[in-house]
Formats: sequence, structure tokens, C-alpha cells
Amino acid sequence: GSAVGQEPKLLELITSWVKEYSKVPVIVKLTPNITDINRPGEAAKRGNGDAVSLINTIKSLITVDIEDFVPYPKVGGRSTNGGYCGPAVKPIALHMVASLARNENFGLPISGIGGISNWRDAVEFILMGSTTVQVCTAVMHYGYRIVDDLRDGLSDYMDRKGFKSVNEMVGKAVPNFTEWGELDLDYHHVAEIHPDKCINCNLCVVACEDGAHQCISVKPEIRLAPIVDEVECVGCNLCELVCPSPGAITMRKTKRLTYAGH
Ligand SMILES: Cc1cc2nc3c(=O)[nH]c(=O)nc-3n(C[C@H](O)[C@H](O)[C@H](O)COP(=O)(O)O)c2cc1C
Ligand code: SF4
Ligand code: SF4
Repeated sequence: GSAVGQEPKLLELITSWVKEYSKVPVIVKLTPNITDINRPGEAAKRGNGDAVSLINTIKSLITVDIEDFVPYPKVGGRSTNGGYCGPAVKPIALHMVASLARNENFGLPISGIGGISNWRDAVEFILMGSTTVQVCTAVMHYGYRIVDDLRDGLSDYMDRKGFKSVNEMVGKAVPNFTEWGELDLDYHHVAEIHPDKCINCNLCVVACEDGAHQCISVKPEIRLAPIVDEVECVGCNLCELVCPSPGAITMRKTKRLTYAGH
């Protein structure tokens, strides 16, 4: 599946053969081991597939035994690629589902798969354009009982948001997903540190110093909590992400500042 799924012409041909003889709808399962999911997706459509499902597992090498130099999983002292799946692949799967959902040349129903473990994940896939969702790893891990949790959570969410059917939710977030060049490039926000919630661990200082724009400093003569230079801050969020104290750093929308004040 992975090999022919990487070659759109073969995918189209095989889909058309299956369609010729199938008495049930044909859902073409797409591999993520490609550069652009739109090419196999459009090939499935050209082959008259009724729908697509994605993603299958991602080729991977999970870890290497550094004592005997054999990667895992070991099979008689050697190894081969594995299939990455579960929560780690959700962002990749969501991106691929979204790419097809916003492709005007596509238009087939999408069954979303990849790291779905709870009702929120399922809702995200539906909002990004999936008409159905599938779960593999989470069922292997926790059993079919999680389907009840998925159903209950989805039902509560739909009541809260006033959705009468899943169809009303499908693709709701797709119009808000676009190319970066189409974003508001004047949008700017800066980090703000709230001294009352800060525990003075300085993790934000290190993160900004070594991983961002060197604009958080410690000035105990002014205050214990670190201080952000808002002119230099590019709003990358890194400090907010590493901060262990909830609410100690928030991002504030602002005009782009310069030292000259304009
Ligand atoms: C052990 C295992 C075996 C799988 N076997 C198949 C398979 O035979 N055919 C297939 O299309 N996908 C297979 N998959 C891929 C899953 O159907 C699914 O596409 C992928 O794991 C991503 O979903 P998940 O994150 O919910 O596991 C397998 C996955 C796992 C973990
Ligand atoms: S948002 Fe980024 S640049 Fe701004 S202070 Fe935090 S880490 Fe530094
Ligand atoms: S990471 Fe958070 S808690 Fe730690 S010093 Fe920075 S703002 Fe304070």
C-alpha cells in the first residue's frame, strides 16, 4: 500500500480496477509518506474512488540500542522501518486532512485518522474537514471502551455549541486555515510577565536568551520577576510555553514598536 500510494498513476489505476468490480463504496487509504498529499488525493478521485481515509502510518526508526548497535524493533539482530502512529502523528495528519479539505479540485469525503485518542481530537479532525474519523492506536492501548467516551464527549460538545448534526461541524475550521502569505502580516503581539504569578524560576530568561531574541532580562533592582523588552520581543511564544507557572506569562496584542516610538 505504501509503495503504490506514493505513485499517483498507480494509485489511480488500482482505484479504478477496484471500482470496476466493487459493489460497496471504495475508500482509498492514503499514505503520508509523500511530499504533497494532494497528488495521491486527486489521483484517488480520478480513479473514481468514493472517499479517502488518511493517514496511514509514517515510516520511522524509533530508537537504536547503543550497546549492540541494532535499531529497534530487533529481528534476529537486524531491524527495518516501523510505522509511526498515535498522538505524535496527529499534527501531521491534521495538516494533511486540512490540505485536502481546502483543495478545490478534490471534494471527496475524508475519513480522518492519526492520533485520535479522545473526543477533542475527533472534533478537531471533523472541524478540519473529516466526515468520519477512525481510531487505531488508542483502541489498541485502551480498548473499544474509549469509543463511548468519544461519543459522549462529542455529544456534549455538540449540545454546547448548538450543532444539530455532525455534518454541520464538518470543515468549520477550514476557511481559517490558509497560506502564511495570506495572514495579517502586521499582526503583532508581545510577551507580558505578571509578577504576582511569577515564581522567579528564570526559565523564560534562558529560553529567550538561547532560543529566541535575547529580550528578557533579570533586573532585581527594579523587580524580582524578569522584564521583557517589548521593542525586541517578536512574539514567538517560547517563553510562555516554557513557563511552569500558569498565567505568569501572557501574550498581548500590540502595535509593532520601535525604540524611536513609531
Ligand atoms: C499495529 C498496526 C497495524 C496496522 N495495520 C494496518 C493495515 O494493515 N492496513 C492499514 O491500512 N493500516 C494499518 N495501520 C494503520 C492504522 O490503520 C492507522 O492509519 C494509523 O495507525 C494512524 O492512526 P492511529 O494514530 O489512530 O493509530 C496499522 C497500525 C498499527 C499501529
Ligand atoms: S515571546 Fe519570544 S521573543 Fe518575546 S520575550 Fe518571549 S521568548 Fe522572547
Ligand atoms: S518562566 Fe514564568 S515563572 Fe519562571 S521566571 Fe519566567 S515568568 Fe516567572
